[in-house]
Formats: sequence, structure tokens, C-alpha cells
Amino acid sequence: MSLNADNTSTSTRTRKATTSQRKEHSDITNVICNDLDAAAKFILENSFAILRVNDETHKALTNSWIAAKYFLTSKVDQSPRQEATTKSKYRRIRNGALMGYNRPSETKVLFRSMFVNGEPDPAQPWGDDEAFKVSSSLLGQHLHSILLGCLEEMMKLVKERNHTEVKGRQPDRHASAKKKRKLDHSNSINGLDFDFDSTPCPLDYFLYHNQSDGVNCSEHVDRGVLICISLTNVAGLEVFSNDAEDGNWSCPEHIFINEQLYQEREVGCSNMLCILSGDQLKKVLQGDDNMTTQFRGLNACIHRVKRKLSAARLSISYELRASVRENEKK
Ligand SMILES: [Fe+2]
Repeated sequence: MSLNADNTSTSTRTRKATTSQRKEHSDITNVICNDLDAAAKFILENSFAILRVNDETHKALTNSWIAAKYFLTSKVDQSPRQEATTKSKYRRIRNGALMGYNRPSETKVLFRSMFVNGEPDPAQPWGDDEAFKVSSSLLGQHLHSILLGCLEEMMKLVKERNHTEVKGRQPDRHASAKKKRKLDHSNSINGLDFDFDSTPCPLDYFLYHNQSDGVNCSEHVDRGVLICISLTNVAGLEVFSNDAEDGNWSCPEHIFINEQLYQEREVGCSNMLCILSGDQLKKVLQGDDNMTTQFRGLNACIHRVKRKLSAARLSISYELRASVRENEKK
């Protein structure tokens, strides 16, 4: 498998986009945006949004994508003995958490780097390529800051909406005071209940090598508050949107692939992130059943990776996680 294996047939592949893919693509364009306040709005409505990042973040994504692909591709066909050597060199377990290289299933290899407040964990093992460490460190900062910013915008929207509702309904004094306390409490993401500053957050590189018929990644929700996944030139990620009666699956990567019809790109990493609601979001925004009726996107986004890929796919994801401060929990 060469570094550019994904790119050689991109144009041919994308020109064969089916009608159903085009329909799906047109549905999902409703959630593409360039700024965090729009992303926040889409996530609250749909549990996911597609954010176009700026050139600086795109550069960090691209550099990390190239370095990770180079590293992981060389590990796909290892013998058991080579695999053992790789694990001893590039894998570490700290506080029960695995960092570095792993082969979580027959369909993929993984490199996990852990970040605390956007900075890499000093104990993190890296590949021999210094560029991998440098580009990942920068990328972790970018993605951490994007997700925190997005969460702040979501908090503002939830607060505004609830204030409007309270004003409009003129509820009794007791209920209003109760709601106000709750909103004031949720105003700060670095506030009393949740700790974002010292909770380890994973920046993952998954290489789905496309050499096995197994399931790439079955449907699931991610741990964390918000998760971002880079969109690549191999359609693999599928997100479940519950805006229709019975819901439907969409593939955000078709957007990037469609754009490639008009311009050739050198690497398969786009300037787009799919941001998803994680399983901690509702808790962090202190959402109850009422709030999830109003903001369906507070429920964690169900997603999966297609079983059949057209080529190997390297995906980058960052999970913004929080932990509850037990001593101050209400
Ligand atoms: Fe996931």
C-alpha cells in the first residue's frame, strides 16, 4: 500500500457517484457551515454539523494526516513478531488508558495520542518521525479549541432559548427562580461541575486498511462531549440523522468527494470536520427530557464506518471529554 494509494483513482471513483449518493449529498449540505455559532445551531438540531476550518487548521490536519498515514501504512502487513516489536516501542498504558499504536480489530490499526487541555501528554509515545509529533501537537490544540468554542456557542443558544421561553410563558416565581439558577450554573464551561482543563482527550488516527471483509466500525456513539472527525476522500463515515420520521444515514464524505470533481487535491484530507454530539453533551448542558425535545441534537450522534470501502481510509478524530468534579457536584 503506498502513501498515495487513495488518491490515484479518486477522480474516476467520484465521477461514478450514484443518484442515491447525490440525493444524500444534497440532504447533508444543509449542515455545512464556516463558523462555530452556525455549527452549534446545527448540532443542537441534528446532533452533527460539518464545519469548514480555516487554512491554518487545514494545514495542521493535512500534515498530521500525511505523517500518520505514513506511520500506520507501514504497520498494516507486519508479521506477529514485528507487531510485538511495534507495540513495545510505540504503545504505553497509563492509568488504564492505552496510548500510541494498537490494532483494535482485523479491519484497522490505530494510533492514539492523549491531550490534556490541548497539550500532548508528556508520556505519549510517538513514531520515529518528528514531524508526526510536531504536527499532532499543533493539531490537538486546534481541535480542542474548536470543540470548546463550539460548546460555548451551544451553551449561549440553550441559555437564550430558555430565557425567551421563560419570558414568554410567565411561569410562577418559584419555577422561574429554579430555572435561572440552573442557567447561571451552566453559563461557564470551566464552571463548578465539569472539569475540561485536566481531563485527558484522545486524538486518534484510524487507518481502515481495506484488506479485510470484516466490519470496519459498527454503529455506536462516542464517549465525550463533542467529537470531531476529519472528512477524507474515501467515503466511509456515516451519521444517523433523526430529522426524518424514521431517520436516515448520510455520508458526509460525499461532499468532499463531490468537490474533488472540480479540483484535484494532493492529499485525501479535506478542510472539513464533522462535529458530533457525544454521550456527555446532554449532561454538560444539563439537559432533561424537556430540553431534548427542544434540542434533539443533545442526544449523542449515532455513527458507523461503511463495511465496503473503495480504498484504505485514514480518519482523524478528537474527543473533547469532561469529568465531573465529585466534591462540588450538586
Ligand atoms: Fe466513533
